[in-house]
Amino acid sequence: MTTPVAFQKCIHPPCAATFDLREVLTACPRCGHLLDVEYDWARVELPKRAADLGRVGDGPGAAQMPEGGLCRLSGVWRFGCLLPFAPAEHRASIGEGHTQLRPAPRVAEYAGLRKDNLWLQYEGLNPSGSFKDNGMAGAFSHASLVGATVAACASTGNTSASLAAFAAAGGRMRAIIFIGDGKVAYGKLSQALDYGALTLLVKGDFDDAMARVQEVCAAEKIYLVNSVNPFRLEGQKTVMYRVLEGLGWRVPDWIVCPGGNLGNSSAFGKALFELHRLGFIPRLPRLAVINSAGAPTLDRLVNGQGVVWNGGAPDEAKISSYFAGLDARGEKARTLASAIEINRPVNLRKCLRALEWCRGVARAVPDQEILDAKAQVAREGLGCEPASAASVAGLRQLVAEGVIDREATVACILTGHQLKDPHATVAYHSCDEAGLARDYGEFGVRLNRHANRPVPVANDLGNILDAIRKARAG
Ligand code: F0G
Repeated sequence: MTTPVAFQKCIHPPCAATFDLREVLTACPRCGHLLDVEYDWARVELPKRAADLGRVGDGPGAAQMPEGGLCRLSGVWRFGCLLPFAPAEHRASIGEGHTQLRPAPRVAEYAGLRKDNLWLQYEGLNPSGSFKDNGMAGAFSHASLVGATVAACASTGNTSASLAAFAAAGGRMRAIIFIGDGKVAYGKLSQALDYGALTLLVKGDFDDAMARVQEVCAAEKIYLVNSVNPFRLEGQKTVMYRVLEGLGWRVPDWIVCPGGNLGNSSAFGKALFELHRLGFIPRLPRLAVINSAGAPTLDRLVNGQGVVWNGGAPDEAKISSYFAGLDARGEKARTLASAIEINRPVNLRKCLRALEWCRGVARAVPDQEILDAKAQVAREGLGCEPASAASVAGLRQLVAEGVIDREATVACILTGHQLKDPHATVAYHSCDEAGLARDYGEFGVRLNRHANRPVPVANDLGNILDAIRKARAG
C-alpha cells in the first residue's frame, strides 16, 4: 500500500505514530503528544526556485487552485504547494494573507539596529484584523474535508474573531467561542458578536476557557480550531513564506514574534525547517519568541529552568513542576497585552522544537516596554495591538543584551491590528501620570514617554488657531 502524500504524525519521537488525514485529532491517541501534518515531499509538485513559490497564475501551486474566487488570491493558498493537504474543492478562504512586509527605519533605530535592517510584517491587514486568518484558512479547509458543521475555540479574542468571520462567510459552519469573561479587548468581542458566533463568557481566564473547550469538543464531537489542531498551524506557516518573499528570499538573521499559546512560533519553526529541508533557503534564521512579563511561561521555563526540546525529550518533570507551582500559588497570567495573557501554552513542546531548529531564544518584556514600542511602531504608520508590539520590545531588549547584533537583519511580526484594542492606546496618549498609575499601575505602566496628547480647545476660532500655532512652534 502506498503512503498518502499528507498524513498526521505524533511529534514525540519515540512514538511517531501516523494517522490518516481525515481523522479529527488534537493530540496523539497513543501517547497524548501534539500532532504535525506531515508530507511525503517526494510526491509533491514543487517549483525549482523559491522565487516561484507563491506565484499567482503560473506557479505549480496555482494549478491546484479553483478558478476564480478568494482562494486564487489568498496569501495562504498561493503557497498551496507547501501545505498540500487540502484538495482544491475544500480550500476555505476569506481573502486572508494580503499582508505587507515594510521597512521600518525609525523603529530600527529605536530598537538599536541599523536603520536599513528592520522589517515589520503587518498581519493586522488580514480580513479579521489578525494573523489568525492564515491558520483559520487551514483549519476550515480540513473541517470541510471531514464534513464538520460546528467549530469551537477558546480565545483571547483574535482566534474567536477569525473563527466567527470564517463561519459567517462560509455559511455552513456554526461557531462556538469560549472567552475568559472580562479578558477580551472590545474590538475582538465586538467581532464575535457581530459575526453571529455563539459567545460563551466563561468565568475564568483563557487557560480555563481552553481546558473547557477541549472537554466540550471531545464530549460533543465538535471541531476544535485552536492551535492544537495541526491544520491551523499549516495555514500559519504562510506568514514566514510572505516574509521571505518580501525579502526576495534572502534569509534574515532573526525573526521576532510574540508568544502566547505558542502556535505561531511553532508554525514558523515548521515552515522554516521545511523550506530548508526542501532546499528553498540555504539556512534557517534565528527565532526570538517574546512573552509579556505578566505571562512569562516560555521565558521562565527556557531561561529559568533550562528546559529545551532536547531532540524530543524535554525535561517533563521540570515542566510539570512549573505548572504545579503556578497552581499552588494560584498564579494567573496578567498583562495589558491581553492577546498573550496565557500561562499554559498548549503548543509549548512544538515551540521548544522550533527554538531548537532555529537556535532560538525566549524573553519576557514588561508591559511598559510593550506600550512604548507600540507607540513607536505606530509612528512608522503601522498600527498594532499591544501583544504585537511585544516583538519590537523584545527585539530592543535583545539588542541591548547583545544577543541580537546591531548589524543583524531582523523581521518582527506584527500580529494584530491597532483597532482591536483601542483602550490602552487612548489611555497611553491621553492620561497624565496619576491617570496611568490608576488605570494601568497594576501592569507596571507608569510612563507615557511617547504620548501624543489630544488638545482640548474651546469651540472658538481664535482658541483653535492658538492651539495649532502653539503645537507647531513646540
Ligand atoms: N499576537 C496576537 C495579536 C494574538 O492574538 C496572539 C494569540 C498572539 C500574538 C500569540 O500567538 O498564541 O500563537 O503564541 N492569540 C490567541 C487568540 C491566543 O485566542 O486569539 P500564539
